[in-house]
Amino acid sequence: MSKSRFSGVVQGPPDPILNLGVMFRADPHPKKVNLGIGAYRNAELKPEILQCVRKAEEFIYKHPETYTKEYLPLEGYVPFLKEAQKLIFGPDHVALKEGRVCSIQELSGSGSLLISADFMHRLLGINKIYIPNPTWGNHGALIGKALCETEKYTYLGADGLYIDFEGMKKDFLAMPDGSVILLHACAHNPSGVDLNEEQWRELLPIFKKKQHLPYFDCAYQGFATGDLDKDAMAMRLFADEGIEFIICQSLSKNMGLYGERCGAIHIHTVDKETADRVASQVKRIVRATHSVSPCHGAYIASVVLGTPELFELFKEEVKKMAGRLLDMRKKIYDALSKTAPEKNWDHVIYQRGMFSFTGLDSHQVKMLADEYHIYMVSSGRMALTGLNDGNIQYVADSIKAEEVKKMAGRLLDMRKKIYDALSKTAPEKNWDHVIYQRGMFSFTGLDSHQVKMLADEYHIYMVSSGRMALTGLNDGNIQYVADSIKAVLDKTAKK
Ligand code: LMR
Repeated sequence: MSKSRFSGVVQGPPDPILNLGVMFRADPHPKKVNLGIGAYRNAELKPEILQCVRKAEEFIYKHPETYTKEYLPLEGYVPFLKEAQKLIFGPDHVALKEGRVCSIQELSGSGSLLISADFMHRLLGINKIYIPNPTWGNHGALIGKALCETEKYTYLGADGLYIDFEGMKKDFLAMPDGSVILLHACAHNPSGVDLNEEQWRELLPIFKKKQHLPYFDCAYQGFATGDLDKDAMAMRLFADEGIEFIICQSLSKNMGLYGERCGAIHIHTVDKETADRVASQVKRIVRATHSVSPCHGAYIASVVLGTPELFELFKEEVKKMAGRLLDMRKKIYDALSKTAPEKNWDHVIYQRGMFSFTGLDSHQVKMLADEYHIYMVSSGRMALTGLNDGNIQYVADSIKAEEVKKMAGRLLDMRKKIYDALSKTAPEKNWDHVIYQRGMFSFTGLDSHQVKMLADEYHIYMVSSGRMALTGLNDGNIQYVADSIKAVLDKTAKK
């Protein structure tokens, strides 16, 4: 066989989110659960086409003279863009009336991110975009494709479960003036941890003072609270303050138009003249990237959003989807709290949207897939969409089993380490019993007098029988404990 021109092309890694679906489909196990991708599933775990979308499609098919298959203009389908703007800003926003917002249709949130980052790089000279830690796994890749590097800012605290708002503000203040900061408009992906209104308000003067450019990713409008208006709160606060910003809007999730690739870039500027100039450049980038955008999803969304009865139906259906996810969140929280009470699960109920950031580590996530056929993103992100009343207890039981293994693994690690430390620090005594024992405790062989000395002089507390709970050890205190035991042994040694 002749040598291929492509022989130097190495195998690329599978996508960390999309590949979970491939693994799930290939798994024949009857109890398998897909908690991977952020795509809505109903209580039967089936994808659903919204009724409002079905009705809009019927309308579209009946009006082929309006809804043609012609190329759309470069900015996209204008009736869709007008409706999409209203969804974000509210129908009567002054910025829309004054024409200060330019909107360009794009391939859902991802296309919007790519094109807007490219625009910022080419036209604003931006080379770096700040993204939250953590964030959606594809942000870095999309922004990187536009030749902008990314740098993470503090979002969650050291526990990886709750917001570190002070750290976030500190980072915003430390960035160079005029930085571009990516913000999740609502239902943060992957953590489900959002700022509250007061916190958003606190950010406004920081953005003004530092002249930072807010760069909103709005992929889950409706899924945080079940209310489309409430979920637009953060973006509307910035608009009301007259701050310029960019929004990448997706209708994949809230309208269920995943494969239609329907979305838009909205750029909120100071006046119509600026908005028009900006639009002219974004359109050039669209033309040089994929020429024009697809029409069908934009037709659907324009009909749904622009027809009062269908818009009402849409709002109800969003509420229903968000409601099912909230119900699943409560039920998995209850199940985990009952099944694995040794761990606090409050973060699960405190988060919002389509995901729960469980706090499971990547090893546990792998074990859940390998042993229990439960698939989730390696960060520990669980898509609540894959849960229903039939599998919640199975998921909770499996997580419990992994938590127990993790705890046992940590204790075994501590047992080995205290054994090594004691064997090295106090070799005059044989410590083999420590490694021979099992479970949560080690029976050290220290007598009650020695135990008392450890407490009085070294502030190390254990049961007077000499029983040491390994749970109190960590890498930071093991050597101190071994040194203290050695000192007590020396002091109490028979002369
Ligand atoms: C997700 O985060 O699961 C979704 O946004 C789907 C995707 O493309 O990653």
